[in-house]
Amino acid sequence: MNARLTSIIQNIASGSLSRQVARKIVKTLNIGDLDYKIHAGVLDRPHYAYVMLNGARLARALGLMRISALEFGCAGGKGLLALERIAKMVKQETGVDVDIYGFDTGKGLPDPVDYRDLKYHWKSGFFAMDEQKLSPNLEKSKIVFGNVKDTVGTFFEEYKPAPVACIFHDLDFYSSTIDSFKILDANPDRFLPRVFNYFDDIIGGDLELYCDWTGERLAINEFNDSHSDRKFSPAYHLLASREQNRWYHQIRILHFFAHTGYDTFISKEDQQIPI
Ligand SMILES: C[S@@+](CC[C@H](N)C(=O)[O-])C[C@H]1O[C@@H](n2cnc3c(N)ncnc32)[C@H](O)[C@@H]1O
Repeated sequence: MNARLTSIIQNIASGSLSRQVARKIVKTLNIGDLDYKIHAGVLDRPHYAYVMLNGARLARALGLMRISALEFGCAGGKGLLALERIAKMVKQETGVDVDIYGFDTGKGLPDPVDYRDLKYHWKSGFFAMDEQKLSPNLEKSKIVFGNVKDTVGTFFEEYKPAPVACIFHDLDFYSSTIDSFKILDANPDRFLPRVFNYFDDIIGGDLELYCDWTGERLAINEFNDSHSDRKFSPAYHLLASREQNRWYHQIRILHFFAHTGYDTFISKEDQQIPI
């Protein structure tokens, strides 16, 4: 049997063909709100859109109309360009303005420190940025150049950003990720009480074999072990959805329990259960 036919039959059997058809219809007719499009998988980088949209929704519920989005690891800038496009959709849907900050050496990956940086998969110099090519295409993103271990400590004083609502982690290495996490030691009020995060390098495939003792996963585990008033949690509501998207496993919610707004009521007022 030819490969195309085999793949069609496999897709029918797994139920994914009907999903693909539904996706095509939604995309062609441009129907549904942003939330629907994210979960239906018709957007470019739906995970980026999920994180930004929900950061903006929480901000609005708390009465904030401007937030910051941080991308750790920008490479050629495709992620920043996607974030700028998404910020427009988020503004349209929520009224919230999103400022975007990227962090990168500009020169690609630094030298890996040890096995925890997955030397079997990454090499220094990968993903260097062509700044001259990227800059004219960026409308509003600001890039903080340098090694994150030197730049995150002064970020809040230098840039005076709106509260951070969402963070996209894509520094690849354990060492870089744990260095970038120093930004999370700042006063909780620099952030929203609950921050939406996407981690690029915690799923991967047969080659990367990401595990809990190396890479971004190790950094998350160490952060949680060493902090009692702030913790990363999986997004259990996504993991429990009937229709699954792979990126649901890459979302973490960072809870700042000591944030002055952590207890602010943002839920539905009418929660009575009549007998
Ligand atoms: C996989 S790329 C990012 C891809 C990008 N997020 C995208 O979606 O197109 C990883 C980036 O992390 C940056 N990086 C890694 N470690 C770093 C560090 N310690 N300081 C600053 N940048 C770092 C590298 O320069 C590289 O561009």
